[in-house]
Amino acid sequence: MGPLKRLSGPDSWESGPFLMPTGRESSFLSRLTPHRVDPSYGSPALGLPHIDHCVGTSMRHVYYPLSFSLLALTGLVSWTWPPFAWAYALLLPLFVLGVRDMRQTSHSVLRNFPVVGHVRYLLEMIRPEINQYFVESNQDGRPFSREDRSIVYQRAKKQLATLPFGTQRDVREVGYEWMNHSMYPRVAPAQASRVLFGAKTCKKPYSAALLNISGMSYGALSKNAIEALNGGAKDGDFFHNTGEGGISPHHWKAGGDLVWQIGTAYFACRDEHGRFSPELFRKQARQDAVKMIEIKLSQGAKPGHGGILPKEKITDEIAEIRGVSKDKDVISPPFHSAFHGPEQLLRFIQDLRDLSGGKPVGIKLCVGAHSEIEEICQAMVDLGITADFITVDGGEGGTGSAPLEFSNSVGSPLADALPVVDDLLVRYGLRDDVKIIASGRILTAFHMAQRLAMGADVCNSARGMMMALGCIQALRCNSNACPVGVATQDPHLVAGLVVETKRERVKNYQHGTVHTLMELCSAAGLGNPNELTRFHINRRISATATATYAEIYGPGQMPDLIFNMNEFDPEEIDARLNMNELEAEEDRANSERKAAG
Ligand SMILES: Cc1cc2nc3c(=O)[nH]c(=O)nc-3n(C[C@H](O)[C@H](O)[C@H](O)COP(=O)(O)O)c2cc1C
Ligand code: SF4
Repeated sequence: MGPLKRLSGPDSWESGPFLMPTGRESSFLSRLTPHRVDPSYGSPALGLPHIDHCVGTSMRHVYYPLSFSLLALTGLVSWTWPPFAWAYALLLPLFVLGVRDMRQTSHSVLRNFPVVGHVRYLLEMIRPEINQYFVESNQDGRPFSREDRSIVYQRAKKQLATLPFGTQRDVREVGYEWMNHSMYPRVAPAQASRVLFGAKTCKKPYSAALLNISGMSYGALSKNAIEALNGGAKDGDFFHNTGEGGISPHHWKAGGDLVWQIGTAYFACRDEHGRFSPELFRKQARQDAVKMIEIKLSQGAKPGHGGILPKEKITDEIAEIRGVSKDKDVISPPFHSAFHGPEQLLRFIQDLRDLSGGKPVGIKLCVGAHSEIEEICQAMVDLGITADFITVDGGEGGTGSAPLEFSNSVGSPLADALPVVDDLLVRYGLRDDVKIIASGRILTAFHMAQRLAMGADVCNSARGMMMALGCIQALRCNSNACPVGVATQDPHLVAGLVVETKRERVKNYQHGTVHTLMELCSAAGLGNPNELTRFHINRRISATATATYAEIYGPGQMPDLIFNMNEFDPEEIDARLNMNELEAEEDRANSERKAAG
C-alpha cells in the first residue's frame, strides 16, 4: 500500500478527512464514488461530474431561487385547488429557518446547507439509539454489551435469565476468560456471605454485602433515582454510597445503609470557605444510617480531575445542599485541602473515625503511580493507623461527566490495579485489616468472581445499578436529558421513574447477581466467594496459550476470613475473630450437614 493521501471531502460537512492510499483513487474510488473524490481526481474520460457539481456544492446560492420557486408553485396550485394553501403552514416556517441558518455564524453545515443540514444533527442525536436498535450485536455495544445489559434488566425484573443454545462468545479470542469449575461441586448456600469492615479498629464495624451501590451523587442522579437506590439497599441489606455530592434528604428517606463519601469539595461538611468542617461532619456521620465513610481521592473515569456537575443539572435544592451557586458548573478541586501526603491522610482517617463515633473509614482511588500506594502502606505501618478499606476504581469506570482524555487515557484499568493493591497490602502485613472494594464495569456474577479472585473482598456497581433503575445506555448523563429519569433534574423526565417499582428492581438485581455468584463458587467447589483465588480464573493469552491470573499477576494471598453474619454483634465478632472458634463452628456445620444427609 502506498503512502496515504488526503482526499478532500466537502469541508462544510465537518466529516473527518478521507484517507486512501495514493495511486488507486483515480482507477478505483473515483469510479465508485465520484461525488466524494477531489475534483483533481475526476475522470473526464468517464464523463463523471466533478465534486463541486455534486454534494460538495453549497446550497446557499440556490436557496433563495429554490425557495421562491417553491412558494410561487404552491401559490399557483392553491389558486386552482385552495386546500393546497395549507402547504404554506409547513413551507413558511422552513423558509424562515433556512434564512436563519444562513445568517448564523456557528455552524458551517447549516450556513452552507440551510434546512437540510439539520438532518445531520438529528441523525447525530439519535445515533446511539440507531446503533442500539439496528446495528449492534449481542456482544458489542459500548461501554456495555447488549448481552450484559440484558442480564441486568432480566435480573432486575426477575425474568428468565438463562441463555438458549450456548455461548455466542468467541472462546478462541485472545482475552477470553473463564472460571475453573470443580469435579466436586457443592450446593450453593441459601444465604450469601458478608464481609466485616473495621473489625479491629472500630467501635462500630460494618458487615457489608458482596455487591453494593457505588458512589453517585444526588445531582448527577435524580431524586427519584436516589430514593429508589436507597430503598433497594434497605430492602436487600446492602450499602448505598452517597457519591461526593453530600447526603441529601432523598438519601435518608428509605433508611438504607449509607457509605458517606467525602470528596474534595466537602459537600455537606464544608465551612463557608469550602474547607472541611469537623462539626458538620460529626453531626451527620453519627447518624445511624451512616455505616462507613469513604474519602474520595480519585475516580477511574477522571483521576486527578475534580468532580463536575453541569449547571443544567443544578436545582435550587442541590445548590442549597452543596452550598454552591446554580449559575455555573460546579467543579470540585482535584485535591483535598484537609491533608497532603500519606501521613496526613492517615491522621485525617483517624480523625474521621473518632468524629463518627468509631465507624470504618476508607479511601477511594484509581491506581496511578504504584509507589504512591506503597507509600500509604508504609505510612500505615509506621503510624499504626490503617484505613479500614480501599476502594479500587478501574480506569474504565463511569461518570456523569468528565473530559474525554481523562476517561479514555488516564488511570489503571481495574484488572491491572487490583493485584497491585492486594499484593502491596499483603507485603506490608496489612491485608487482614484493610478490605478491598472493587469497582469498574462490574455487572454480572462472573465479573464479581473475576475481581474477588484478583484480591477484592466486595464489589460495587454504579452503572449496573443505573440499569436496574431503567438506564438504557442512551449516553446523555451530562446533558440533563436522560430519557428514563435516572441522570436528570428535569422534573418531567424524573416523574417517569417510579420509586416503588425501581427500588424492587435494584434489590432483585443485587440479590440475583450475588445468588449467581454463590452458585458459581459452589460449581468451583468453594463454600464461600472469599475462597476464590487467582488460580480459579483463566485467560486466553494467544491463539494457542492460556494462563491463570496467578500466572499473569502472581499468586496473591490465600483465602481471607469472612463472616456469615446478618446481625452485627460486637461480642460475636470478637469471638469469631478467634480462629479456633471459627474452626469449631465449621466442624459443627459439617456435622449438621452430615446429619441432614
Ligand atoms: C452518573 C455517575 C455518577 C458518579 N458519581 C460519582 C461520585 O460522586 N463519586 C465517585 O467516587 N464516583 C462516582 N461515579 C463513579 C462510580 O462510583 C464508579 O466508581 C464507576 O462508575 C465504576 O463503576 P461502574 O463501572 O459500575 O459504573 C459516578 C458514576 C456515574 C455513572
Ligand atoms: S439512560 Fe440516562 S442514565 Fe442511562 S446512559 Fe442514558 S442518560 Fe445516562
